[in-house]
Amino acid sequence: MIATAPIGVLDSGLGGLSLLPALHAELPQESLCYVADSGNAPYGDRCASWITERSAQIIRFLERQGCKAVVIACNTITAVAVERLRRRFDIPIIAIEPAIKPAVALSRSGVVAVLATTRTLGSDSLQRLRERHGDGRRILFVPCPGLADHVERGELHSPGLLAQLRDLLTPALEQGADTLVLGCTHYPFLIDAIAEVAGSQVRIIDPSPAVAAEVRRRLAASGTLNPGRQRGRITLWSSASAAKSRHLAGRLSGLHVAAQLLPPLP
Ligand code: DGL
Repeated sequence: MIATAPIGVLDSGLGGLSLLPALHAELPQESLCYVADSGNAPYGDRCASWITERSAQIIRFLERQGCKAVVIACNTITAVAVERLRRRFDIPIIAIEPAIKPAVALSRSGVVAVLATTRTLGSDSLQRLRERHGDGRRILFVPCPGLADHVERGELHSPGLLAQLRDLLTPALEQGADTLVLGCTHYPFLIDAIAEVAGSQVRIIDPSPAVAAEVRRRLAASGTLNPGRQRGRITLWSSASAAKSRHLAGRLSGLHVAAQLLPPLP
């Protein structure tokens, strides 16, 4: 692998951009090649075999772009497909997953709520994560169908969104949840609205800095950290409109992002 090669990042849509500020801050010299499959989002209600095959197509595309590693910036892909993808590909794959372990360590009430897609929360891998890190605490699963769509539309705060969040969060809050895990990469963009509904006593865990640190560790271990001093470029490939994605990506990530249309993938 060439150290100056870009890092590939993929998500069902724009949610994975929530990782970019942390990745860019941790590794400013690395170029990032981000695929937003917004034309097919949301993944959260799709079946596992579709998600696996589509993710494999995108990883092959990122390999063709010369990427030296791939970051799965989508909890849903990780939950249902990462093991099979790692068996299929030689390229290093670093994958985000809900931050249950730090949430359990922080919770005072002993009740933690994980907000994620239906597919993520229904997966065997999340059950295993809950068993491994639950530490005898109550880990409530809160499926949030439709929530990622707000981010894809660029709607980060609205009366409709707040009403939906109240419906989703109230049962967990009433059961004493004092720590919320954002188990979908779209949700950090809704953090203000989530905090408004949850109240200031509730902690919200965003795993982006931990993932960025893991990417650094993995690149350092394989000797593929970019030794250059120039800031890396961020290129976004979207399966929806490139112009709309460029505008939203800049607004969401606060970074300069060059956007192009993702070609049909074999
Ligand atoms: N951003 C994705 C995740 O982290 C999924 C959102 C969706 O497409 O349903 O799970």
